[in-house]
Amino acid sequence: MSFEARSARGSSRRWPYPQVSALEQLSDMERDNALAFIRRTGDLLMMHKFGVDELMTKLRIWSEEFDYAHEHDPIEHITSRIKRPEAIAAKLARRGLPVSPESARENLTDIAGVRVVCPFVSDVYLLRDVIRQHEIEIVQTKDYIAEPKPNGYRSLHLIIKVPVHLSDRTELVNVELQLRTIAMDFWAAVEHELLYKSGGEVPENFAAELKSAAETAAGLDAQMASLHKLSERTSD
Ligand code: GTP
Ligand code: MG
Repeated sequence: MSFEARSARGSSRRWPYPQVSALEQLSDMERDNALAFIRRTGDLLMMHKFGVDELMTKLRIWSEEFDYAHEHDPIEHITSRIKRPEAIAAKLARRGLPVSPESARENLTDIAGVRVVCPFVSDVYLLRDVIRQHEIEIVQTKDYIAEPKPNGYRSLHLIIKVPVHLSDRTELVNVELQLRTIAMDFWAAVEHELLYKSGGEVPENFAAELKSAAETAAGLDAQMASLHKLSERTSD
């Protein structure tokens, strides 16, 4: 049986199974060490993929259930990603931590990431409350909607422990769940693109303009929330 990991952009690619032939030049001991390392890295990535899979299933069910029961779907779209091994190693090294699969599991909470984009701000908190009611523990909350970052970034970030039911045991996997509105997502995606393109060198008034754009996006969310209330009242 083969399975695939799906990237945020929806293209599919094969899970990166190790190619043992690449280790032919090594001594027996080096090869054993390398194989053990590869296996532990593979386990780490696979467990996090399962965490994403479990959470995605729950989110899809809630999305359909709300749409059916309340004629309102709180989820516009969902994307997910597993951090690449080289990005995991780089982040551990940057923080002065040991670079190993065990260290990654212990110290990093964003190996698995799920981003949920909602029509309204109220949907973000509705989903947070649904998660709270389930057996999923929220270990960290960063509410950048209540308190936006200084650059204007808004989103609700949760680190949650998702139970993954394996054939012989249940493991809890950390997943970084980002919840945001379409307006917040638009701003974050374009800001990321702009900063990436500029390589960090930006004109003087750039930050102020970006922040002002974030405020415009927040204004749109507020306007849409009033329209939502109005449309609910007229449909009663
Ligand atoms: P990391 O070390 O990057 O994981 O930061 P952190 O541990 O302080 O986490 P935080 O919850 O603040 O942000 C993590 C993720 O949120 C990032 O990887 C981005 O996906 C997103 N994010 C945070 N701040 C910004 C921002 O200013 N702009 C954009 N576009 N995305 C952001
Ligand atoms: Mg991160």
